[in-house]
Amino acid sequence: MILPDTVVIFTEKADWHSNGLAKACANAGLCPIILSIADCGFDVASGRPGLVLPGLDGRLPGAIFVRLVPAGTTEQITARLGLLHAARSAGVRVVNDARAIEACVDKSMTTFLLAQAGLPTPRTIVTEKPEAAEAARKTLGGDVVLKPLFGAQGKGLVRLRDGDPLPPSEDVGGLYYLQEFVASRGSRAAGGAHDWRVFVLGGKPLAAMIRRSDGWVTNIFQGADGEPADPTGAPADYAVRAAAAVGADYAGVDLIEDEDGRFLVLEVNSMPAWKGLQTATGVDVAAALAGDLAQKLARPDAA
Ligand SMILES: Nc1ncnc2c1ncn2[C@@H]1O[C@H](COP(=O)(O)OP(=O)(O)O)[C@@H](O)[C@H]1O
Ligand SMILES: [Mg+2]
Repeated sequence: MILPDTVVIFTEKADWHSNGLAKACANAGLCPIILSIADCGFDVASGRPGLVLPGLDGRLPGAIFVRLVPAGTTEQITARLGLLHAARSAGVRVVNDARAIEACVDKSMTTFLLAQAGLPTPRTIVTEKPEAAEAARKTLGGDVVLKPLFGAQGKGLVRLRDGDPLPPSEDVGGLYYLQEFVASRGSRAAGGAHDWRVFVLGGKPLAAMIRRSDGWVTNIFQGADGEPADPTGAPADYAVRAAAAVGADYAGVDLIEDEDGRFLVLEVNSMPAWKGLQTATGVDVAAALAGDLAQKLARPDAA
């Protein structure tokens, strides 16, 4: 049985994001419950629908909002994503869907889907073989970025210039994700770097900011400053198309504007934080997300 007004928010700690979203859901007439996905599981021994969510007594929520899937073993992550797939197949509206989360967590899959959708994205080569990675550096030019496949918040990115040694395979989880370095517009002369974060919700741009940093990594988490930006125009259009390419209901899309003023999509985040964006733009992201959930639950057959 589904409780149509109940929204489960999956996160690890009740923080600014999840508390704010829960409050916004309540304001939108929904019943929010904050849970850890690690506390959930499967039970096909008790004659119940098969999914166990603490506090729901065998019933299912109308929607699940995935704020966070915590790190874990391959087995834990597989079962947690399996639970999200299972919830969808049992009629729960899962935001974002497990398929979108999988496509975004794996940067090589995101890059493939962006390119397949005809979106501009930096030239990228992914390989397990160190010899192929060395050859890829030559193909991409003398300045490349090596990214962890499951990276986030600007952690673990390495810039390799001509002559820099390639890290050993064991330092990169046995996989080289190599991308051409793109200098952001004006940065060669002025130093530092900037890129764009566009928050997409329901096929529309909700808010945008430009992130500026003294170094080349412009994540807010790494200390970059956010300033409000125009949520229309080319970066917003690309962001909307990028979210659609990975099947995300909502997404934080990173784009870089190159020296020629051309926008390239760097990545799509299926579980983006929004505190920095909200601070920079004043847009109430939680209210928008809750409104979207309420609308989806009121019209369950709508896409
Ligand atoms: N190919 C690139 N060229 C130049 N800067 C890049 C490139 N890729 C990433 N960056 C910088 O590093 C930041 C983090 O990279 P990103 O791909 O978004 O990974 P993460 O998941 O860690 O946020 C970007 O916001 C941008 O500032
Ligand atoms: Mg990013």
